[in-house]
Amino acid sequence: MNKYILSLDQGTTSSRAIVFDQAGNVVSLAQKEFTQHFPQAGWVEHDPREIWSTQAGVAAEATVKAGLNGTNIAAIGITNQRETTIVWNRATGQPVYNAIVWQDRRTAEYCNHLRETHREDLIRQKTGLVIDAYFSATKIRWILDNVPGAREQAEAGELAFGTVDTWLVWNLTRGVVHVTDVSNASRTLLFNIQTLDWDDDLLELFTIPRSMLPQVKASSEVYGETKTTIFASKVPIAGIAGDQQAALFGQMCVEPGMVKNTYGTGCFMLMNIGTQCLMPSDNVLTTVAWKVGGQVNYAFEGSIFIAGAVVQWLRDGLGIIRSSSEVETLAAQVEDSGGVSFVPAFTGLGTPHWNPYATGMMIGMTRGTKAAHIARASLEAIAYQTVEVLRAMEAAAGRPVKELRVDGGATANNLLMQFQADVLQTKVIRPTFTETTALGAAYLAGLAVGYWKDIDEIKRFWKAERVFEPTMAPEKVAEGFARWQRAIRTVLAWTR
Ligand code: G3P
Repeated sequence: MNKYILSLDQGTTSSRAIVFDQAGNVVSLAQKEFTQHFPQAGWVEHDPREIWSTQAGVAAEATVKAGLNGTNIAAIGITNQRETTIVWNRATGQPVYNAIVWQDRRTAEYCNHLRETHREDLIRQKTGLVIDAYFSATKIRWILDNVPGAREQAEAGELAFGTVDTWLVWNLTRGVVHVTDVSNASRTLLFNIQTLDWDDDLLELFTIPRSMLPQVKASSEVYGETKTTIFASKVPIAGIAGDQQAALFGQMCVEPGMVKNTYGTGCFMLMNIGTQCLMPSDNVLTTVAWKVGGQVNYAFEGSIFIAGAVVQWLRDGLGIIRSSSEVETLAAQVEDSGGVSFVPAFTGLGTPHWNPYATGMMIGMTRGTKAAHIARASLEAIAYQTVEVLRAMEAAAGRPVKELRVDGGATANNLLMQFQADVLQTKVIRPTFTETTALGAAYLAGLAVGYWKDIDEIKRFWKAERVFEPTMAPEKVAEGFARWQRAIRTVLAWTR
């Protein structure tokens, strides 16, 4: 009987499950959006139980749609929104607080304090990250300090912490397995990416008991078997990676120097830097890409917090489009943004500015400004933020990036992709299959159970569907980018 791989992709706005066959083709797909909670300005939360119930629901749906039950699934791979923090009671499995989402800025003041007390170098050297509310550690600390009784329970060993991968594995195994992988661990601000272990100095700095933390594993190995009733038999869970690292793997950026950019809620550009842990400059992050076959791979990363989410905001906040795909047609009604610049810093700014207090700004409107100009300015904002990140990445790597592999929902937008190639002055390559996050997790799981022999076998599944070549005149590119930089400077000047 044919066997398949089930990939669970738990993202910021939806839970997805995809069944893949041995040629890397999609056999079935199920997806469900879930509730976003914004209890205060700058706060973003998810209900961990809803994360689990939607993920379990789509896993069951995709399995049934493919005409499968557990027996014909060779392995499960998990990929997830990273940094999002969940703390739960080990005995009851109940979360003590909502998941604090990676976009949440509530710990920005505390991060300032860390910077003022000169912790930046220590944290940078050990974790490869900058001090920012984005990462998990300050969120865990917030839960321990603000949920009544949490700190005492944590110190008594009664609480468990996990990023979303850990939470899913815990639930899939009914509390038997408490693990994460190196790629997710590297986003917590608690993980030493040189020694590949939780770091005692950092645990002390953030006052987090080690007993809460999951065991850190490779990205491709059997962690345990399912114990849920979703599947008719036990299925091995054999791959875990944070969604951006999984996308890098799914894009087969397995050689040093290869770069991908994923256009999801945010935009995350990762460059494979090989097996050496290099520390970059220019506010680029160093992160663990994966550990496969006993070998650790590192990556440089540039993180943009709002990309596809700006289109969602045009739909749900402004109401100028009814569905996300309408943005392309609307933006195509005009030649350019008509002088409108839009910086969608809804949850602060990431690479290269790292400013948690920045907010959105739209400037340059006249009586002639139409919805189409705003749509166009929104797409331009995604592209210009990517330019800033790519330039920082090039400076960090000390060499130019010759081509960019792209994936994620917004890459279906040809207008955006062409504009991206134009303003980057770099080739933008869209593969035939753009769900590379889920595919990467499937590959990791499949490799662990011998479903695929090695990376060379899966490399041949990657194919370019379209190459966007830059065509815009360099003077026009320079003029547009200069205007964007002015807009950014204005946002930063407005920000305290
Ligand atoms: O670091 C946050 C990132 O993992 C979120 O990814 O795809 O949910 O926007 P996504």
